Amino acid sequence: MDFPIEIALIVALLAIAHIGIYLWVSKKPQRPIQNRHVVVTGGSSGIGFWIAVKCAQLGAHVTIVARNVEKLESALKKIQVHKVNDKQMIQCRSVDLSSNYENVKNALSALEEEIAPIYFLVNCAGGAICGRVDELSPDDAVYLMNINYFSVYYPTRYILTKMKEKGDGIITITGSQASLMGVYGLGPYAVAKFALRGLAETIAMEVSNTKISITLALPADTDTPGFENENLTKPEETKTISGGAGLAKPEDMATVILNDSLIGNFISISGFESWLLTIVCSGMSPWGGLLFTVLQSIILGPLRFVAYGIQWHCRNVVKTCAQKQTSNTSAAKKDE
Ligand SMILES: NC(=O)c1ccc[n+]([C@@H]2O[C@H](COP(=O)([O-])OP(=O)(O)OC[C@H]3O[C@@H](n4cnc5c(N)ncnc54)[C@H](OP(=O)(O)O)[C@@H]3O)[C@@H](O)[C@H]2O)c1
Repeated sequence: MDFPIEIALIVALLAIAHIGIYLWVSKKPQRPIQNRHVVVTGGSSGIGFWIAVKCAQLGAHVTIVARNVEKLESALKKIQVHKVNDKQMIQCRSVDLSSNYENVKNALSALEEEIAPIYFLVNCAGGAICGRVDELSPDDAVYLMNINYFSVYYPTRYILTKMKEKGDGIITITGSQASLMGVYGLGPYAVAKFALRGLAETIAMEVSNTKISITLALPADTDTPGFENENLTKPEETKTISGGAGLAKPEDMATVILNDSLIGNFISISGFESWLLTIVCSGMSPWGGLLFTVLQSIILGPLRFVAYGIQWHCRNVVKTCAQKQTSNTSAAKKDE
């Protein structure tokens, strides 16, 4: 009986050591973005909006890109207030980033000519429609792939060539915890977010001999208009599975993502649940330093049991909800 307690203690100690090292490593110096051109896709709302605000506070020229012009203009006014010098240029552009590559390339190229070469691309555009794989239509699946994968791939594909010519730059790709684990009711969204993880890991290897850095942000549930919208279609099972970790504030999530991007961390996470998931899924992820790797190699084995516990919990939620639905249906039939 002593054995599991010892294991639990070792896991807890290693977790504390890991978090300590993470906090220490997070104190690395940030790359300055003053007078640099930062493009934030999805900058008219939620996490992207707050990243744009924080970039403006750091003295960068900021362009926000999204589709809806009214939302863009309203966000722009709020971001402009945060300028720290008169030379800063803050603007918006309406582009459907998922439309096709030529459109996106032309829009970004015109923007570079007008403002300045893009030094930092923050990909935050995206959105979710929830539902079981057999419930969502094939058209929904294509739409979700377009707004979550291609709206990131097109601008990243454009800027990567430019950054490679200069050998410098920063790219952030916003995935989700659903980039690491398939979850009931998040099917096509999770598929697109898994694809982003593949894209980020591939680019990380391809630019490893340059000063270009890439960050894969994996936000947990965050209180944004997008989150409110996805809740409209979220099945009870999905709410129960993902609801335990609480709701982050978008400004706090933006601070974490921006800091990780500017110090060059490959993964950007916030919260214990994200930490756990990232460690369990860290098998072939890019090198995060010797200390991290030693700790991960010790902690990964015991955490496999914890991961199985999470899977067991999720399956239990699915079973309980199915039983509840069956008893509700029979009660309704009796009433008829
Ligand atoms: N909030 C969360 O809990 C959470 C958790 C994990 C991951 N994430 C991810 O974090 C990112 C930001 O989420 P959020 O909650 O802040 O979302 P949000 O409030 O809905 O903002 C999404 C932004 O993306 C833009 N956008 C969507 N499709 C676009 C397209 N095809 N072309 C150009 N712009 C487009 C939207 O503007 P228009 O509609 O006007 O185009 C909006 O500015 C997303 O990638 C999301 O998947 C969010």
